[in-house]
Amino acid sequence: MTVDIAPQLPLAKDFSSFLSLEGAARKKSPLKGLLRFMKDDMISLGGGLPHPSTFPFYSLSAEVKAMGPADATVNGSSLKAVKAQPETVSVPHYPQPGKTESLTATLQYGMGTGLPSLREFCKGHVARMHKPQYRDWDVVLSAGNTDGFAKACSMVCSRGDKVLVEEWTYPAALEMMEPLGVGHIPVQMDGEGMSAVALKDLLDNWGTNPEQAQQAKPRVVYLIPTGQNPTGTTMSIQRRKDIMQVAQEHDLIVIEDDPYYYLQFFVDQQGGWMPSLLSMDTDGRVIRLDTFSKTLAPGCRVGYMSMNPQFCQIVQYHNEVTTQQPSGFSQAILAEMLISHWGQEGYKRYLTENVRMEYLNRSQHLQKSFKAHVSPLLASYNEPSAGMFLWIKIHLEKHPRFGNVSDSALMLELFNKCIANQVLLVPGWQFSCKSKPSDIDPADLLNSWYDDDARYLRATFAYATFEQMEEAMVRFGKTLEDAFAA
Ligand SMILES: Cc1ncc(COP(=O)(O)O)c(C=O)c1O
Repeated sequence: MTVDIAPQLPLAKDFSSFLSLEGAARKKSPLKGLLRFMKDDMISLGGGLPHPSTFPFYSLSAEVKAMGPADATVNGSSLKAVKAQPETVSVPHYPQPGKTESLTATLQYGMGTGLPSLREFCKGHVARMHKPQYRDWDVVLSAGNTDGFAKACSMVCSRGDKVLVEEWTYPAALEMMEPLGVGHIPVQMDGEGMSAVALKDLLDNWGTNPEQAQQAKPRVVYLIPTGQNPTGTTMSIQRRKDIMQVAQEHDLIVIEDDPYYYLQFFVDQQGGWMPSLLSMDTDGRVIRLDTFSKTLAPGCRVGYMSMNPQFCQIVQYHNEVTTQQPSGFSQAILAEMLISHWGQEGYKRYLTENVRMEYLNRSQHLQKSFKAHVSPLLASYNEPSAGMFLWIKIHLEKHPRFGNVSDSALMLELFNKCIANQVLLVPGWQFSCKSKPSDIDPADLLNSWYDDDARYLRATFAYATFEQMEEAMVRFGKTLEDAFAA
């Protein structure tokens, strides 16, 4: 499939000056340079490629959900598009007519950009869904967003830099940066995620307080715009525009980590998917991280990064000397399923009709159970419109010992009671941007609560059964009553 990109769009700006020492130093692997000569009549005695006859895998197949063309349409909507019977996707050992891939190709060493057919599919998907507003954007496959973030970060952050982050954020991102000597600066959030006003204010006034006087102005912002982890917030269209405007005004690189993008519950009512930050990018300043982890399965370890061509090249070089590319088994079965069986339309319908609906129903069930069993005086949450999480705020001010002991002590007590009553929620401090005191052992959860502002517990509706979710809320409701009676 060729990707149509409007010729009147501008080319990406030059972001060379944003490269970290590491990013700027990355070079193409000389061994990979040989691959481009392997075409036409070339006889290769180069490259240490194992002979495919030694691969003990004769074929690879999987039973998958059938997502062929919609059965019928009424008033423009598909009827019974998801067929009941699974279909078999198989990848033969050697290339065969009618097949997208073969194991001789997919299990071989390949390019740092990923399997060409799968990469083209992902690029086609990005072109349809996000339509970046510059001409030369490109896509490189990753081993998921964790991998993509690590590579993006090492490309644009040097030791001593600080990245702007949401005030409650995905802990793995902070933990990835910390050993690299890359710090973070929390930016206030509201019901729509990071506040554009707070971001602008911070950057407009950068250097005016003594703490910042010695620090370089931040040049990178890390955002989870949809179904944010942990708060469940989703940026409105206006918020996304405002954030991008601040990013342009202050010349920021935007890392858009969007694993929950396709878990938007109300796409129908809103008339379409939320525009991504990438879709508003006219400069090439957004590094968008997509993953199949939440749409197909986390164990695929396949994602894709969409960004300007220079960044794509640097990530390709990074891949060439680290992961090389995602597992050939994953790429093979995904390519065959997505390209030969589902197609772009089938994948889009799968996202709209399956994943999204499942999480919508789950979210509504957990919320219903919460409302039935948890006193609104003691705890509350903002209704999520995407993602997997309820961010439960504990009304500590209603606690009889509020003000006499620290908020952290009350939250730790509540967490311990939850464990004793067999209901597990994630402590809010795990998503805090504050630095952990050195005497705290983060693994010792029954004795750790270090942030007085972390009056939250995170619940997910992604995994438990509906019965378990209801029972969890019964237990949580009772635990809260008990904790607040003391
Ligand atoms: C914000 C965020 N980024 C990345 C990930 C991990 O994504 P992947 O499985 O693609 O590495 C998660 C979830 O686990 C997440 O919440």
